[in-house]
Amino acid sequence: MTIRPTAPQDVLAARRLISIDDLSSADIDYILDLAEHYAGYLNRSDPAPKRLAGKTQVNLFFEDSTRTNLSFELAGKKLGADVINVPVAASSVHKGESQVDTAQTMAAMAADVMVVRAKEEGLHYELDEVLPCAVVNGGAGAKEHPTQALLDAAAIRSEFGSLESLVIAICGDIKHSRVAGSNVRLFKRLGAEIRFVGPDHFMPDGDQFTDIPRIDNLKDGLGGADIAMGLRVQFERMGDEAGDAARGFFETFGLTHETIKLAKPGARIMHPGPMNRGVEIDGALADDKELSLILRQVFYGVPTRMACLDALLTRGE
Ligand code: ASP
Ligand code: CP
Repeated sequence: MTIRPTAPQDVLAARRLISIDDLSSADIDYILDLAEHYAGYLNRSDPAPKRLAGKTQVNLFFEDSTRTNLSFELAGKKLGADVINVPVAASSVHKGESQVDTAQTMAAMAADVMVVRAKEEGLHYELDEVLPCAVVNGGAGAKEHPTQALLDAAAIRSEFGSLESLVIAICGDIKHSRVAGSNVRLFKRLGAEIRFVGPDHFMPDGDQFTDIPRIDNLKDGLGGADIAMGLRVQFERMGDEAGDAARGFFETFGLTHETIKLAKPGARIMHPGPMNRGVEIDGALADDKELSLILRQVFYGVPTRMACLDALLTRGE
């Protein structure tokens, strides 16, 4: 059993988790250590201390989710919080109530924290201005998904010990991916070397992530990589071009048992999920228990979100 880490002074001084930039380096180390500590409870099937007893957590997802929504629910429950998932599809949103009014309504039920997923990139900041509770980003448009980045880092640490000097190839539809946005921000701070691999039309705009190399073929893109992280082709974020976006993609950029041989021997595969099998990744590789960390990422979703909620709501007390 790991020793419970001590929180740094003024942990999560931002009092919110909307961007990786809300975290100090000490916050990041603390959250990752605390995630590992809570992973121990899950692995032993031990009950975790009910550090959030009496707190109310609202999950408000304006976009679909399986992993993030349900692992946040489980995380809050494991720590003893009262957790509610707003059933958006059956809510007064459909009578025309705005997202902000819906969030304010839920906050008025004495919420201590609200986990929000939205299509809009700015909604979380707007909510942070008006809500009396802490705001956590469970996914914002194509911009950020900070708890995904933290759980990915926790999964990588569990396999490699640290991210320092690892070469991580982020492959596929980077342009529409909030996971890529948060992962680049976090992994760079943890000392990893990042590269983007994919066709031009999946690369972010030229003025973004200007320090990350962009490579348009798997041979160079995976060469020397410790990790190949596939991203879903996010058809729902595309307009008319969605129909053609993935044409020929698997043949050129698909992650398979064959193409992963281009990376370092022993390289691992990651993917935030949900996957399009046969589009960005071959099912047999995704299911390969030796090479794939995909279900490990899902596992770390729970203890990492426990760590985030704990840091935000107890402030290490
Ligand atoms: N589930 C992740 C997200 O919500 C990745 C994806 O949907 O492709 O950003
Ligand atoms: N990885 C991720 O965010 O998955 P969901 O969209 O299912 O929450």
